[in-house]
Amino acid sequence: MKIKKTLIETQQIENRVKELAAQINRDYAGITEPLVLVGVLKGSFIFMADLCRYLTIPHVVDFMAVSSYSHSSNATKASGNVRIIMDCRENQQDRDVLIVEDILDSGHTLDYLIKNFKSRYTKSVRTIVLVKKKTRMSYPVEIDYLGFEIPDVWVVGYGLDYAEKYRTLPYIAELGE
Ligand code: IMP
Ligand code: MG
Repeated sequence: MKIKKTLIETQQIENRVKELAAQINRDYAGITEPLVLVGVLKGSFIFMADLCRYLTIPHVVDFMAVSSYSHSSNATKASGNVRIIMDCRENQQDRDVLIVEDILDSGHTLDYLIKNFKSRYTKSVRTIVLVKKKTRMSYPVEIDYLGFEIPDVWVVGYGLDYAEKYRTLPYIAELGE
């Protein structure tokens, strides 16, 4: 599998991430307890790093790791179940939580995470997703902040991978034969 074409340029990503951060700064203005940003590893690590540096509201950064795709023979097919591989370290009880996700496809991962965080007696749970595929979501989840909508193709770069490859490209590209 090789890079087919660039879908979202570095500069476009940077501009959009700034806009999203500005929106978050407005929405959470005046919060007293720091917002808990929970990045979903590994895909969100670059998005998180860029986003949090434009935040002016009090916040803390946390990560969790989940697995929902098998990276074996069919790396682009969902295996159907979500597994927490590594949980957060911050306590979420009575805290405002913002789940930071790289990409939304079926919605399964985010649906699972939202329910999971609500069961932790959080004060609020919102979601920010960098890219969403224009597909019929099998799990219709609410996205509070969305970066871009893209066609239903496999994309890599800016944190997104194909079997661990292309993750650190500074732009988002479509993968092809
Ligand atoms: P969902 O559970 O079907 O919404 O899939 C979400 C997860 O699948 C994301 O967090 C990614 O880890 C992975 N994923 C889905 N589509 C892509 C893609 O095009 N490129 C890279 N990873 C993807
Ligand atoms: Mg992910």
